[in-house]
Amino acid sequence: MIKKTLSILLFLIAVLQTAVKSETIHVSTRETELVLQTAQNGRLYQLYLGARLSKPEEYANLTATMKARSDGQAWEVYPVSGTETYFEPAFGIRHNDGNPATVLTYVSHDQRKISDDVTETVITMKDVLYPVQVKLYYRAYSRDNVIESWTEISHKEKRAVNINRYASSILYWKRSSYFLTEFSGDWAKEANMSTTPLSFGKKVVDTKLGARANMHVSPFFTVGLGDTPREQEGQVLMGTLGWTGNFSFTFEVDNEHNLRVVSGINPYASDYTLEPGKVFTTPAFIFTLSNEGVGKGSRDLHRWARSYQLKDGKGDRLTLLNNWESTAFNFNETSLDSLTAEAKYLGVDMFLLDDGWFGNKYPRHSDTQGLGDWAPTKDKLPNGVPALVKAATRNGVKFGIWIEPEMVSPKSELFEQHPDWVVLLPNREHYYFRNQLVLDLSNPAVQDHVFGVVDHLMTENPQLAYLKWDCNSPLTNIYSPYLKDRQNNFYVEYVRGLYKVLDRIKVKYPDLPMMLCSGGGGRTDYEGLRYFTEFWCSDNTDPVERLFIQWGYSQFFPSKSMAAHVTSWNHDASIKFRVDVAMQCKLGFDINVKELRPEEQAFCRSAVATYNRVKNTNFNGDQYRLVSPYEGNHTALMYVSESREQALLYAYDVYPRFGEMLLAVRCQGLDPRQKYRVKEINLMPGVQPEEAFNGSKVYSGDYLMKVGLEVFTTKKLHSRVLELEVVK
Ligand code: DGJ
Repeated sequence: MIKKTLSILLFLIAVLQTAVKSETIHVSTRETELVLQTAQNGRLYQLYLGARLSKPEEYANLTATMKARSDGQAWEVYPVSGTETYFEPAFGIRHNDGNPATVLTYVSHDQRKISDDVTETVITMKDVLYPVQVKLYYRAYSRDNVIESWTEISHKEKRAVNINRYASSILYWKRSSYFLTEFSGDWAKEANMSTTPLSFGKKVVDTKLGARANMHVSPFFTVGLGDTPREQEGQVLMGTLGWTGNFSFTFEVDNEHNLRVVSGINPYASDYTLEPGKVFTTPAFIFTLSNEGVGKGSRDLHRWARSYQLKDGKGDRLTLLNNWESTAFNFNETSLDSLTAEAKYLGVDMFLLDDGWFGNKYPRHSDTQGLGDWAPTKDKLPNGVPALVKAATRNGVKFGIWIEPEMVSPKSELFEQHPDWVVLLPNREHYYFRNQLVLDLSNPAVQDHVFGVVDHLMTENPQLAYLKWDCNSPLTNIYSPYLKDRQNNFYVEYVRGLYKVLDRIKVKYPDLPMMLCSGGGGRTDYEGLRYFTEFWCSDNTDPVERLFIQWGYSQFFPSKSMAAHVTSWNHDASIKFRVDVAMQCKLGFDINVKELRPEEQAFCRSAVATYNRVKNTNFNGDQYRLVSPYEGNHTALMYVSESREQALLYAYDVYPRFGEMLLAVRCQGLDPRQKYRVKEINLMPGVQPEEAFNGSKVYSGDYLMKVGLEVFTTKKLHSRVLELEVVK
């Protein structure tokens, strides 16, 4: 007893000694500064998070503000439940002795340059009384003005502890007003943007759906600090969590009108049991703070993603013809052969075979059976996948294939052979989402099986050029046969199991392009996108709806990561309108080419050639959203190449009113001193551009950005793509 008291006293003295010397830690990008400081009590507080000051010595003035706040309302960097934290904590724990409180004090910090552009800061914090350690990580990407923050939690208590809160980050502001933009919806109406003011209390944006985590709401948000988020001005926080599972963002405005933003894994039903010596790493909260509105924030995130996060972020993307919309499950070797020939006719790089190619005891003729049995259906495809790859190669295109390896149909051989591999409550009636169940990815044997699905396909078909990885069900009937009495760890272990599989795939097949699909856009997060070159935004391919959905996703993701296909949804829209919408992103087709009129076929073919010619600007340039579809009957956006010598302007008239007033669209991002030739491209065969856009006119960048171009019309479902090129 005496020994224990003595060691606590010595520890307290050590902590107090550290506390006396106040530590100030700066995490900085080119434009943003996060300043943290220890107070007399040894605890760590956020002093400042805002635009970088021009005179670094002036950060010293901030100390006074922080001291005044070191009470119950203090901006503690990793506040813990159980003491004087009055508001949403970041961390919660139950120690071995049943005590539910922890106070974290500063121990040390370390800052290292990962590259000229990237700096990592690690701050070690410890509890005074219990052997619990939390390391706070900040990775600052200077050029792109992006910061990632996450934590590592560990302990050396005798037995496992339970952690019931484990945020990735908590950030604070004090402003006159706050406005939250969230991105919510459902199947076929993903990423709808809505903005609401935040007032006293909490607004929580979260999901509990597990596998198809963001079916209802995407893991990203924008907060307007002091005003509603606007495209070109105002200060905004844009944040997203890199976690392909349950997430939670809490926006809490307190009695003094401070805003706390708490981001992390959703701790719902996940009171995690952490063994001594094991490290619990939270996912990264990725954020940018823009002082020039959301447009600038998006461009920074796009550039950051291409450079650091997205699989093959700097590389090219394959155009494709997919068969899901035109054939669904009804195809065979012969019909696929002619589809690969159509892909060649269009000039796309690849044919992508969708759902329905597998299962023999329970052939996959509909979504009611066969999932999990990854052997080609003999009746449909007697010569298997190799013959399809061969036929595609003969027809001059690459071949890609659809899989949904995390899932299983109850009517499948896999389920019959391995019922214990399935997430399923042992003692209740089963609930099926899309007639299927989810495999228990917390189980290493299941991880091997899922990896094996890909590995077998790739080993058998080394020329396979692409995978579309689908995930149509949320986690249901939630019970992991593998985790037994650790069910509370399941939601987290599922995602970790998924990453283990994806890591193995990435290591063995580093150059394999892959699309992340989840019944449309049910999975769109930046940790997932480390393994995928692109994601499927939505099963809704009505071009009008897509203008909204793509606008929503473009807030956070670069165009090359967003797969957009031309389909036969919305027959009111011309094929040109549909292609012009898909061309904003990563272009593909999912349409019965033979049903198109000859001039439509010819148009699609020339559109692919045009796309190939200009796609570099689209993929790697800066995006400027010019006119929002949410604001009226027209919308426009543009891409400007890094050199500012090429640009593309996409303009759409959706459902304009009769005699509606039309405003010129002012360009952005151009070089004001350069002269640009403006030419309309992607026209239907035989259609000539208007004089203003036929390439005979040259305008200065200055003119184009101040006066703009009369690109809108009063025609319904009308679109235009303009190419702007510097005249040397
Ligand atoms: C849902 C996807 O979003 C679709 O594109 C298609 O692949 C189907 N699944 C196939 O079942």
